[in-house]
Amino acid sequence: MSEVVGFELRGRNAIITIDNPPVNALSLGVRQGLMERVDRAAMDSEVLAIILIGLGRTFPAGADIREFDKPVEEPHLLSIIDHFDSIKKPIIAAIHGTALGGGLELALGCHFRVSLPTARFGTPEVKLGIFPGAAGTQRLPRVIGLDRSLELIVLGEPIDARTAFEYGLIDKLVEGDLLEGAISFTRKVLNENLAIQTSSEPREGIGSPEDFQEVIQKYRDIASKKMRGQESPHEAIESVIDGLKMPYDQAVKADRKRFPRCKDSIQSRALRYSFFAEREASKIPGVGKEITPREIKKGAVIGAGTMGGGILMCFADAGIPVLAIESSSEALETGMETISKNYQRMIERGRITETEKANRISLISTSLNFNDLSDADLIIEAAFEDLELKKEIFSKLNEIAKSGAILATNTSYMDINQIAAVTQRAEDIIGLHFFVPANVMKMLEVVRTSSSSPEALATGMQLAKQFKKVGGVAGVSHGFVANRSRAPLVREAQFLVEEGASPAQIDAVLRDFGLPMGVLAVSDMSGLDVSWRMRKSLAHLRDSEERYPHLADRLCEMGRFGRKAGYGYYSYSEGGNLPIPDPEVEEIALKVAEENGIERRKINDAEILDRCLYAAVNEGSKIVEEGIAYRASDIDIMWQYGFGFPRWRGGIMYHADVIGLSEVLDRIEEFHEIHGKLWQPSALLKELAQSGGSFTQK
Ligand code: CAA
Repeated sequence: MSEVVGFELRGRNAIITIDNPPVNALSLGVRQGLMERVDRAAMDSEVLAIILIGLGRTFPAGADIREFDKPVEEPHLLSIIDHFDSIKKPIIAAIHGTALGGGLELALGCHFRVSLPTARFGTPEVKLGIFPGAAGTQRLPRVIGLDRSLELIVLGEPIDARTAFEYGLIDKLVEGDLLEGAISFTRKVLNENLAIQTSSEPREGIGSPEDFQEVIQKYRDIASKKMRGQESPHEAIESVIDGLKMPYDQAVKADRKRFPRCKDSIQSRALRYSFFAEREASKIPGVGKEITPREIKKGAVIGAGTMGGGILMCFADAGIPVLAIESSSEALETGMETISKNYQRMIERGRITETEKANRISLISTSLNFNDLSDADLIIEAAFEDLELKKEIFSKLNEIAKSGAILATNTSYMDINQIAAVTQRAEDIIGLHFFVPANVMKMLEVVRTSSSSPEALATGMQLAKQFKKVGGVAGVSHGFVANRSRAPLVREAQFLVEEGASPAQIDAVLRDFGLPMGVLAVSDMSGLDVSWRMRKSLAHLRDSEERYPHLADRLCEMGRFGRKAGYGYYSYSEGGNLPIPDPEVEEIALKVAEENGIERRKINDAEILDRCLYAAVNEGSKIVEEGIAYRASDIDIMWQYGFGFPRWRGGIMYHADVIGLSEVLDRIEEFHEIHGKLWQPSALLKELAQSGGSFTQK
């Protein structure tokens, strides 16, 4: 008898309960139990109807993703669902929490569906590199129509219960107790002798591919644009089209061939890795559930410029009152105007309403007086990148902030240990490194100093959740984890231009690999002067044996600061954002190469990719080796959510594992020999390559 699937008679209803915490995933035991219990109910003459319900927090949230790497054992979910079609007693799914993936397919296999208004429904399979292969692509269109099904299946985003009801996916929304509501609905089905609805039969003709050419094309375009390079949305669309071309049985047969191909693909493996890596990143070793994050009822941000403004919006979006502090009323005004414009743009895009804008802005108060910070629970400093200025601010905060307030800096590079040292409450100091634009980018790097307390870190991670961001912890190091591991990629791209590659060639290689933008176009967008200023301020620390980015300096000396100046690695039309290849850059690069004895040559795309990625991998490995990141997979999550690295490639560290670490090391050693010290191979990489280990696989 199954331990994870229960059976109980309530009157003449069989209540079948699924109890497989935390999310009632459809593991083998659950599938076996379901088959067994439903058959028992079907054969029991006492039973008139069957109700399926999840215990705990949810209806099944899908297949057990951890089982994907093992051989699939019978009964398959599809066999269960198809079996339901032959059962003559009504089967009712009673849904709360999330009916996702296989969970939704299970619900679709039931003859009726009732749910709580708080439930959510979705087919997130494409995000795992697969498609709803337990007949979801066949049954969903039969129930809610093609357009809406493609929307759910291709985008993988869930819908709420009211929308599901409106779509006809749910027969009844139940207020109050779900099981009672389901029993009452069952009574109606039996009393009124409602016909059993099997979702393998079209409720009405579903049409042919020709009838839906435009809709299909719309979703193909969406998939190509929104999930560039990812195969699963296209496989899902093909599966749906099969359902329009052939009867249910044949389409399902075609799916049975398509599914293992998707599941075993490199992309699906990387996406599954990403799913678990993301959850792992939220865990801080040594900080268990017994550590309670501090409650943030009021936030404050020092600086209302680009970063500060974005952070203020994060608070307002999360419904947390926040105070903006600036040094002049002009700066405050400009900051608030920008915030208002940003919200206006969100209204124009249909993301929020006028009322929501007004509500959010009303949560932001402003002040020029530091003393007003005294009642904030968390203060984020977002001033200029100047260590002395930051120290001054923190010593003031030390005096003003209330006891127990978390004091955070949004610095991208500074030594937060030095900043913490000017206070008498170093345990409350953390870094909160946002990515640009702060209100949009999902990553939040929580920086741990040598004295940050577990509560301070837990509060930072909790804040990430409140801001609907992904939190990851980094130690103190120049650029922490994300920027430090990315810097060598930028460095190599710059060197490659000096050596003969064009910015357009380099950027095209990286875009083709899956990055959303070329790295040099990104540098132009951020402004080349930012790193120029930093190079100048750190000139005294420069190692003369390390190669120096002369071209990057030269461009800045010429005022080519990037997009804002109209020129950088590319040129830009008046007010335009589109990078236009600029022959002048090649002339400048030629000159810089000549002056510095750099040999110019034709560089192939493979070298560009290896140089850019492996430089980052080598640095990533050093970051793990030094304990600056807890895990290599944290680096991958930071690249995904901070830099838009394609999730279907896992991340730089996972990519290196896929290539094979000994091959990666060989290449790094080759580059070390040619290009010198900056390519010194990481000791951890060497060790793993020699022992046949990997960064990300346990
Ligand atoms: N399989 C295995 N483990 C799962 C899981 C799944 N489908 N869904 C969640 N978990 C695990 C998580 O890894 C996590 O484990 P740890 O505590 O050990 O880290 C735990 O359950 C809780 O998950 P979250 O931290 O994500 O909890 P949450 O409350 O923030 O979110 C959720 C809950 C919305 C269900 C979210 O977990 C989620 O989106 N899960 C995946 C849903 C999904 O993709 N379903 C489709 C699977 S593929 C499929 O179903 C196709 C098929 O039939 C073959």
